[in-house]
This record gives sequence, C-alpha cells and structure tokens, in this order.
Amino acid sequence: MTAVPTAPAVPTAPAVPLLPAPHSSGCPFGPPPVYTEAAATASMTRAELPDGDACWLVTGYAEVRTVLSDRRFSADVRHPAFPLLVAGAREELVTGKPNFLRLDDPEHARQRRMVTGDFLVKRVEALRPEIQRIVDEALDRMTAGRTTADLVTDFALPVPSLVICELLGVPYEDRDRFQGLSRTLLSRDSTVEELRVAQEEVQDYLRDLTARKRAQPEDDVLSRLAARDDLSPDDVAGTGVLLLVAGHETTANMIALSTALLLEHPEQVARLADPAALPGAVEELLRLLTIVHTGLPRVAVEDVELGGVTIRAGEGVIAMLSTANREEAVFGGAGYRSTDELDLDRDARRHLAFGFGVHQCLGQPLARAELQIALETLFRRLPGLRPAGERAFRTESFIYGMRSLPVTW
Ligand code: HEM
Repeated sequence: MTAVPTAPAVPTAPAVPLLPAPHSSGCPFGPPPVYTEAAATASMTRAELPDGDACWLVTGYAEVRTVLSDRRFSADVRHPAFPLLVAGAREELVTGKPNFLRLDDPEHARQRRMVTGDFLVKRVEALRPEIQRIVDEALDRMTAGRTTADLVTDFALPVPSLVICELLGVPYEDRDRFQGLSRTLLSRDSTVEELRVAQEEVQDYLRDLTARKRAQPEDDVLSRLAARDDLSPDDVAGTGVLLLVAGHETTANMIALSTALLLEHPEQVARLADPAALPGAVEELLRLLTIVHTGLPRVAVEDVELGGVTIRAGEGVIAMLSTANREEAVFGGAGYRSTDELDLDRDARRHLAFGFGVHQCLGQPLARAELQIALETLFRRLPGLRPAGERAFRTESFIYGMRSLPVTW
C-alpha cells in the first residue's frame, strides 16, 4: 500500500491568547511569559488574536527572518485577513490609505525612498554633535539645583523628541499634544473610538503643518516632502505621523529601559566608557530589551511551509522578535552569559530588534546614535546614578517601556 502523504503535524501546544499578554509574572525586562513558553515548545504555535481569530505565533529566529523577508507575507493592513492586535478595529483602521509601514512594495518602496536619504548612516553621523548638545542640555536641566529626577520625563522622553522635532521641522512646543496622541495610538487600552479620534487628530496636525511648510519651506524633512508633487498631502501627513511617532516613542523607551537595566548591573556600566565597546553594548541592550514586545503582524498571501507547518494563504502571522532575539543557538555560547541575561560583551549584531527585510527600521542609524550618546553621557556625567523610588513599567503599550524611573545621583 502506498503511503498517503499527510499534512505536517501542527504542534499541539494549547492556543495562546496573544493579547493581553500579562507581564505580571516573569522578568520586567523580558517578553511576557506566554511568548517564551510558546517558544520553548515550538517555533510556530497556533495563537488567538483579541477578536478571536486564529493566527500563527512565530517565535524562532530563522522563521521570524523568513516571515519578514519573504514576499509571500504581506504587511498591507488592508488585506481582509491581516492580523489586528486591537479587537474590533478592522473597519476603523483599514479604511483610508495607510502609511508605508503597512504597505507592500512597490508603493512602500516608492514612499520609503523619499525619506531614506535623511536617515542614512552618513547623515546621522553628521548629526552627532547636535545630538550630543541636546543630551547635554537635557542633563543640565535635569540636574540644575536638584538631586532627584524622573529619568523618563526629564531625560529619556525629551532627548529623542527634541531630535526628531528638529529633523522633521515639528515645533517642540507642541510636544504635549503629539506625545499624548502617540501614547493613545500605541496603547492596547485605547478603545477603537479613541484610536480613531487620535489618528484623525495627529493626521490633521501633520496636514496643517505640512501646508505651512509648503508655503514657507525650511531646511527640514517635512518641508522637503511637502515640496514634492508626486506625493499627496495625505501621504506626506501619513509619513510625518509615522516618523514622528516612531522617532520618539521607541528610542525614549529604550533609553529608559536600558538605564533601569544598567542600574541593576553596575559591574557592566564601565563598558559604556570604552568607545570601542559602546556600539556593541547598545546592540546587546537592543537585543535583550526588544521593545516591540507584541511582535510584527503579517498575512500570508500564498501557502508557505515554515518551521514544520503549512501556513495557508489568508492566515495571519505574528513575528515575535523578542523570543527570536533570545535564541541560544544564535546569540549564546562563546563564553557568553545566557541569552536571557545582559552581557555587554556579546556579539549581538544579528539581532532583530529593528525588524528584518524591506520594512526594517528606517530610523535605526538615528536610534543607535541617540542611544550611544545618551547612555554614555548619562553614566559619565552622573557616576553615582542610582534608583530613588518605585519605578513603573509601561505594560499597556505596543512599545514596551517605562512610565517612570525615579533616580538620584
Ligand atoms: C530603539 C529604537 C527603535 C526600535 C526598536 C525600532 C523598531 C522598529 C521595527 C521593529 C520596525 C519594523 C516594523 C515592521 O516590519 O512591521 C521599524 C520600522 C520603522 N521605524 Fe523604527 N525603531 C526605532 C527607532 C526609530 C526611529 C528613531 C525612527 C525615526 C524616524 C524610526 C522609524 C521607523 C520607520 C519609518 C519604520 C517603517 C519602515 C518601513 O516600513 O519600511 N524608528 N522600527
């Protein structure tokens, strides 16, 4: 009798609800335990989205890279089966044209190309003195006449906000408005209605601003985008929103979390003072903290065999960067500490904290420069830096981070 080929076995691990994935147990610097438990069982697990739809949770390093670089997986949020991490949001989020983060090539590439030049390594290197000035001034303000501060509101948030405002040409005086809107947009606790209102408000804000830039151009990214006649005003505003939100929220939370973690590892802080070790130390912090805890959503547009299972066209997948970045086979060995621990001497350069493939973070040279300068300067200028009270993590956000970090020096 001829053997009948059977479909590959689907791992029998119980379905894991994706959200909310509680951080309550486990290390506050690590991904929620449901993800690490899933990763310990298989690289591909059936999981459940907030609205009850099933999807694949992709936790293995090789599989995550495939999902993010293979064109059989789409990042287009308008696909009817695109996995949404907010229940009931399909109609609200899927109407209208998304920004290029949630578009596929060729439209994604066309729009991304228009801002690539502003974020190239060479451009960012030239910005280093300016970033250093912003960091020094933030520390001057934080320490003037006092001995305690909240590192989040006094340092981690102002530094990247000031940098991205200067680059884009957004008035920093408007920070309360755009920081508040960003928080709503990134919060898993926001209702669909709150998301809709915040999305409209931030889009209107950028649309007004770019109209002003068109009338009175300055030397900034928004003025250059506004001057193009191959981009609609909505596309310019959409790109502006993406750069503004991604440009300050992510780096701010990385600065705060890195500081909190380094305060728990004073024996490793000296590595930041060695210019040859500093870039590698920042890569290790990016790897271990991987702040996009909820993972990156994609939808399969063809059947794909991956990690021993068949993903059918029309199935959603969530690429879990945080578990991929802790894979021992990739980042362990060679005398390093376990991949769940901080080891500033580790070669972490292959981490996926900035994603992978065509959507890989556009702002990574900027984020790296900001993190290197902010952390080196903070620990150099305040060698006695230490915790001064109860810290609070930001568990409700799609970008994991800190709400407050009281410090003294
Ligand atoms: C430590 C800080 C940062 C982290 C961890 C981070 C992480 C990420 C990740 C994981 C993606 C991929 C999303 C996906 O594939 O679905 C991404 C995309 C992106 N990031 Fe960042 N990011 C950071 C800082 C920044 C900064 C400073 C900017 C400044 C403008 C920025 C702008 C963008 C943009 C525009 C995209 C979309 C790229 C595309 O779709 O082609 N990011 N980021």
